[in-house]
Amino acid sequence: MTTRILTGITTTGTPHLGNYAGAIRPAILASRNADTDSFYFLADYHALIKCDDPARIQRSRLEIAATWLACGLDVNKATFYRQSDIPEIPELTWLLTCVAGKGLLNRAHAYKASVDKNVEAGEDPDAGVTMGLFSYPVLMAADILMFNAHKVPVGRDQIQHVEMARDIGQRFNHLFGQGRELFTLPEAVVEADVATLPGLDGRKMSKSYDNTIPLFGSAKQLKDAVARIVTDSRLPGEAKDPDASHLFTLYQAFATPADLATFRADLLAGLGWGEAKQRLFELLDAELGEARERYHALIEKPADLEDILLAGAEKARRIATPFLGELREAVGLRTFRAQVQAGATDKKKAAKTARFVSFREDDGSFRFRLLDAAGEQLLLSKGFADGKAAGQASKRLQSGESLDLREQGQSFGLWLDDECVARSPEFADAESRESAIQRLRDALGA
Ligand code: TRP
Repeated sequence: MTTRILTGITTTGTPHLGNYAGAIRPAILASRNADTDSFYFLADYHALIKCDDPARIQRSRLEIAATWLACGLDVNKATFYRQSDIPEIPELTWLLTCVAGKGLLNRAHAYKASVDKNVEAGEDPDAGVTMGLFSYPVLMAADILMFNAHKVPVGRDQIQHVEMARDIGQRFNHLFGQGRELFTLPEAVVEADVATLPGLDGRKMSKSYDNTIPLFGSAKQLKDAVARIVTDSRLPGEAKDPDASHLFTLYQAFATPADLATFRADLLAGLGWGEAKQRLFELLDAELGEARERYHALIEKPADLEDILLAGAEKARRIATPFLGELREAVGLRTFRAQVQAGATDKKKAAKTARFVSFREDDGSFRFRLLDAAGEQLLLSKGFADGKAAGQASKRLQSGESLDLREQGQSFGLWLDDECVARSPEFADAESRESAIQRLRDALGA
């Protein structure tokens, strides 16, 4: 079975080396597995929650898109898109909002942290808290559930959000699934063996600490950043402790085991920090040099990036659009057509006498019945996998096109395009069967 992996990247910043080693590189590697189907997207609706600077949002979307492509994401295999290009996501967000407990969202870490801060400062608990921040986990649940992801690779701070997506999906299944799993329940995966890189000062590399190494700056910028890595004051010739050095940890994230062993031995033997930094720079430059060129070429052709992302959105919507149709059916946002006999042309009388009734089976399939004026069943359809297909079939029966009815024993089947889509009940004798066929033809004007 293929595993669907999905993750979103909030578009508020410029990717740095820590993002690359911790998220981008492992995600791209995972997307190449034959038995995985990956969905990676720019979470630009999420970005709006945190950032009200339009220029920065726009810049970051472009940079992040270019970064993933430059690093080798194959958009023919993975599905790569912008969240804001999928209108089904905000629509699903609303369906989920209607089942998500407010109490559940009250417990979200990000919201609670804001409240705690306000309380501490003697402010109103909700001061400065937008509905966007409060509902953040619901939007994220829609991202995940829309594509029925099995696995969601995230950082530790996001595990709770994935669990909330599970809770909300489960509740929706329970309320509307009629025993069927409408949504796959996702699982957070936090890669244990993926590097969390230290920044220049040894703390976790993060924009908020201002200790990052840019991913696709120029070679000179990379060199300057490496030069600013904090080391101890041991002089060349003095033994260095690799395990106490975050410069070594950075090296480790990119080196082959053999190179790493050499580097370790050389540090122990007194390699100077200046020389060590030069080696780290060369290692990084070798890993990133080509991708850096691809990145700058892409950034210079934003219209091409736009086309790639729009194609990705189209691919994603081939899944999202029909699935949302099913979900709308499930909650009761259904077309009136399948429910009510449609009287085409001269079938005024028929309109009063026969009717279609659609319903949902326990196994989740969609069926309809055609009842005659007396409420007697003339036809029962097969189970359709989705409500739309069932609706289309019943619509065709009402379109006045000639009916392909095939007798079988004391019953008959109704065929559309070489497929039997509905059957009559078993009648007592041929005469009752013929009379039912006549009522059917009258009802459908065919
Ligand atoms: N909230 C995530 C973050 O800040 C980004 C994100 C949005 C996401 N939607 C998602 C991650 C869906 C995984 C799945 O990192």
